[in-house]
Amino acid sequence: MPLIPEETLESIRARLDIVELVRDFVPQLQRAGRNFKARCPFHQERTPSFVVTPERQSFHCFGCGAGGDIFAFAMKMESLSFSEAVEKLAGRAGVKIVKSDEPMGPAEAERLKLKELLELAANFYHETLLKTSAAAPARAYLERRGVSTEVIAAFRLGYAPKAGTLAAKAERKGFSRELIVKAGLASPKPGGLRDYFFDRVLYPIEDAKGAVVGFGARALGEAMPKYLNSPESPVFSKGRVLYGLFRGLPTVRKERQVVLMEGYMDVMAAHQFGLAIACAPLGTALTLDQAALIKRYASSATVVFDADRAGLSAALRGAELLLSAGLGVRIATVPEGKDPDEFLHARGRQAFADCLAGAADLAEFQTELALRRCGPEPGPAEKSAVAREVLETVARCPDEIVKAEWLRRLAGRLDVDEESLRLQLHRRPGLKAARSEPRAPRPAGMAGDEADLLLHAFMGPELFARLRPEDFASEAGRRIYEALEALRPWPADWPARARAKLSEPDNALLQELVVRAGELDAGGAAERLEAILARRRAQSRYEELRALNRRAPLGAEQLQEYMRLAVELKGSRKT
Ligand code: UTP
Ligand code: MN
Repeated sequence: MPLIPEETLESIRARLDIVELVRDFVPQLQRAGRNFKARCPFHQERTPSFVVTPERQSFHCFGCGAGGDIFAFAMKMESLSFSEAVEKLAGRAGVKIVKSDEPMGPAEAERLKLKELLELAANFYHETLLKTSAAAPARAYLERRGVSTEVIAAFRLGYAPKAGTLAAKAERKGFSRELIVKAGLASPKPGGLRDYFFDRVLYPIEDAKGAVVGFGARALGEAMPKYLNSPESPVFSKGRVLYGLFRGLPTVRKERQVVLMEGYMDVMAAHQFGLAIACAPLGTALTLDQAALIKRYASSATVVFDADRAGLSAALRGAELLLSAGLGVRIATVPEGKDPDEFLHARGRQAFADCLAGAADLAEFQTELALRRCGPEPGPAEKSAVAREVLETVARCPDEIVKAEWLRRLAGRLDVDEESLRLQLHRRPGLKAARSEPRAPRPAGMAGDEADLLLHAFMGPELFARLRPEDFASEAGRRIYEALEALRPWPADWPARARAKLSEPDNALLQELVVRAGELDAGGAAERLEAILARRRAQSRYEELRALNRRAPLGAEQLQEYMRLAVELKGSRKT
C-alpha cells in the first residue's frame, strides 16, 4: 500500500476548490448563503439536501448522510479507491505524487539520513554555543538582543565556530562527504570538506514535525550577508516551511490561528513574550504551500508588518494569497517603525497584544492605505477613487455577510451613502456588473452569457463593434453574430435581411433578442457589455490556465493568477 504523504494531500486540497469539483458532476449546484446546494447525486430526492461548504471545503448530504472532503467526493462519485481518487485529483491540481512502493525507497532513506545528520549538526552547534569559550561573543550577542535562555534552549540556537569543525565531526560519525554536502553543511575542497557556516549564530529550521531541515545563520556583527540560509536540499525547501510553526503547534491547533511575521528574530521574541502562534517564512514571499501548511492547523492568519518600513507590498501580497487559499486574514501594523522583535522588547507584551487586537481586515486596511494618499479632507473625486480601489477587494470576497459588513464600514469611513457604494460595486467595469441585469432568453445551444452579449450589442453600433467572433463559443451564437456583422452598418430592413441569412431556430432566437433589447434600459449598457466581456475573458483565461495546470504544475505567478481568477469568477457567478 503506497503511502501518500499528508503534505501531498494538503497541496492538492489547497489547489482545488470543492465547489468547482462538485459542479463538474452536479451542474445545478446553487449558492445558498455561505454554502451551495443541490439535489444529492448519491441518492434520489426531490428537494435539495446536498450541501457544499466552501469554507470547510467539504460536502454533506442531510438525506443520505454522505459527506467528506474532495477525496471523499471523488471516491464516491466515480467509485474510486482512496489512492485512485488522490491520483485523479493530483492530476487535476497539477501536483506530483511521490510514491514509495517499497516500505522505504532509496530517496526516503536518504531523507532520513539527512535529517539524522542535520539533527547531529543542530546539537553540535547548540553545545558549541552553550559550552565553548569560542562562543562567548555569540552568547554576549544574544544576551544583548534580549534572547532568553529558555528561547535559546527551546529553539536550540547554536554557534558555528570560526574554525569550522562540524564536517570533520560528521565524517567521524560515519556520514559520507556526499551526504554532508547534500545537507548543505559543507562544500567540497581539495582533499576534504569546508564547513558552510562559520562564526555565525545558528537558528535550526524545523519542519512541522519538528525535524531539523536547515539553518538560518546570522552574522554577529555587520558582516554581509546578515543571514546565510542553508541551500535547498532533498529535505529543505524554503517555500514549504514556516519558522517557529512546530514550536507553536499545540497552541495553533487550539486557537486555529497563526500570526505571520517577517523574521526569525521576530518569531523568537514573540514566543519569548508568550505568543506561541507566531511563525515566519524564511525571508521569501509567502507561498501557496505555506498557506496550505497553515490551513492544516488554522483557519485564520494575522499578517504583521512594520508600518514605516518596506515590506508593505509583500505583506499585502501575502495577505491576498492567504485569502485566496481560503483563510481568514487580518493585517496588523507595528507602530514606531519597529519590527515585532524591537517593539516587544521596548514596549512589552500588552502593547503588542494591543496592536494585534487593532488588526484590520483586508478591505479596511486597503481603505486606510488609499486614504493616506489623499489630502486630509478628501473630496468627492478622491473618495470615489478610494472606493473604486477597495470595491475590487469587496467584490472578490466570497462571503456575502462579510461583504455587506465591508460596505457598511467603507461607507462610514468615507462618509458616503452606502447605497451609492452598492451601486458602484455593481457598476464597476469588472466582473460583477452584469449580475443583476435582465437576462436574455437562454435557448439550448447558446450560453446565457452569449445571449446577454448580443442583447447589449443591439444597443448601438459602437457596442456591437466591441464584439469579436471568438467571444462566441456556441454555434448558434457565432452564426447570429456573423449574420449581424455581415449586415453592418445595418440598413433599415436589417431584420428581414438577417432572417434571410439565418434559419430556425436561430431566427426565433434573434427575434426574441430584438424584443428583449427593446425593453432594456439603454443607460449603462456599455458598462454592462464590458462587464460581460471581462467576465468571459477571465473565464477563458481561467480555463486556459486550468488546462495548462493539468499538463504541468503552474509557475508561481500563473498559479496566483489562476487562484485570483477562481476567486473572482466564483464571486461573480450568478445565483
Ligand atoms: P530582517 O532583516 O527583518 O531580519 O529580515 P530579523 O529576523 O529581524 O533579524 P535581526 O533582527 O536583524 O537579527 C527578515 C528575514 O529575512 C531573511 C531572514 O529570514 C530574516 O529573518 N533574510 C534577511 C535573509 O534570508 N537574508 C538576509 O540577508 C536578510
Ligand atoms: Mn529584526
